[in-house]
Amino acid sequence: MKQVHLIDVPSFGDDRGTLCAFEAGKDIPFEIKRVYCIYHTESGISRGFHAHKHLKQVVICVSGSCRFLVDNGKTKQEYILDSPDKGLAIEGLIWREMHDFSSDCVLIILASEHFQESDYIRDYSEFKSLCLQSKL
Ligand code: TYD
Repeated sequence: MKQVHLIDVPSFGDDRGTLCAFEAGKDIPFEIKRVYCIYHTESGISRGFHAHKHLKQVVICVSGSCRFLVDNGKTKQEYILDSPDKGLAIEGLIWREMHDFSSDCVLIILASEHFQESDYIRDYSEFKSLCLQSKL
């Protein structure tokens, strides 16, 4: 799926622990305007269930794990996010869902735009018809 890819950054481990870094303009393919976190997710809870009209994001799981589903209206793909040195980059018309959060899961999301509710598509049938329109 060309609108979604994993960014792998090097991690530097020694007897003090491990460090990894995502650099704007190098690893992150957009100017970062917002950083937000998802944490304290209850077991059995799923989140997301939306697409964005313009937003680009990189999702980094800095603690625990979750299952991240992406859907371009034709194909669905799942990623297990369980490591701070991997970022899931998403752009374009992609439906996303987050499932199977571990109790210690912390997601950090880097975003290309400030929060704007009007950029959200929260209805799956609206998402599907926008996908069809965009392919015309
Ligand atoms: P929501 O989109 O429902 O979260 P998720 O995608 O994980 O299902 O967002 C939850 C609430 O937080 C909602 O009231 C909108 C608000 N919010 C902000 O104020 N700023 C933000 O950057 C984001 C992502 C959400």
